[in-house]
Amino acid sequence: MDDYAIRAAVKADAERLVRFLPAKPGRSVELRVEAMRHDLRERVSAGELLILLAEHDGHVVGYARASHVVRPPSRSPEEIPSGWYLLGVYVATAHRRRGLGRAFTERRLAWIAEQADEALYFTRTDNDASLELHTEYGFSEVARGVNAPGQPVRADRVLLRARVRP
Ligand SMILES: CC(C)(COP(=O)(O)OP(=O)(O)OC[C@H]1O[C@@H](n2cnc3c(N)ncnc32)[C@H](O)[C@@H]1OP(=O)(O)O)[C@@H](O)C(=O)NCCC(=O)NCCS
Repeated sequence: MDDYAIRAAVKADAERLVRFLPAKPGRSVELRVEAMRHDLRERVSAGELLILLAEHDGHVVGYARASHVVRPPSRSPEEIPSGWYLLGVYVATAHRRRGLGRAFTERRLAWIAEQADEALYFTRTDNDASLELHTEYGFSEVARGVNAPGQPVRADRVLLRARVRP
C-alpha cells in the first residue's frame, strides 16, 4: 500500500475520474464529466458526498464514493431507504487484492460515522468480492430486490447495513 496515495477528489480530477471509470452505455464522457464536476463542486462542499481516489505512479487506479441518499416520499416500498451509503468502489484490475478496497471502505466508514450511527450499501447477490469485503466491516443483509435511484430494477440487488458507532 506504500506505493498508493488515497485522497479526496477535487473538481480538477473530474475528467480523469470519468476516463478511469467503466463506460456507461447511453451517457457520453462529456455529460459524465459535467455531472462529476457538479458533484465535486456542489455536493462535496455541502458535506453530503465524499469522493476518494487512489493514485499510483501518477495514474488513477481506484475510486470510491459515499453519499447521503434521500428517498423521495412517493417512491415504491422496494426503493432503498434514506441514509448514508457507500456508493460505488472501483479498483483497476491490475491493482486489486492489495488493500485498496479495504482502505477506501475504512475511510468512507469513518466519514459516515461523523454523520450517523449506521452505514448502508447495496450490491448484487453474485458480487462475491464486494460481499466479502463488506462483511469484514459488519455489514449484514436487510432486504433483497431493492430499487436504487437511477439504476435498473433488479431482483438480485441486495441491501446491507452496518453500525459505524459503538
Ligand atoms: C470489490 C473491489 C473494489 C475490491 O477491491 P480490492 O482493492 O481488490 O480489495 P482489497 O484488496 O482491499 O480486498 C479486501 C478483501 O475483500 C475480499 N475480496 C476482494 N476481492 C475479492 C474477490 N475477487 N473474491 C472474493 N473476495 C474478495 C477479500 O476478503 C479481501 O481480503 P484478502 O485479499 O485479504 O483475501 C474490486 O474487486 C472491484 O473494483 N470490483 C469491481 C467493482 C465492484 O464490483 N465494486 C463493488 C460494487 S458494490
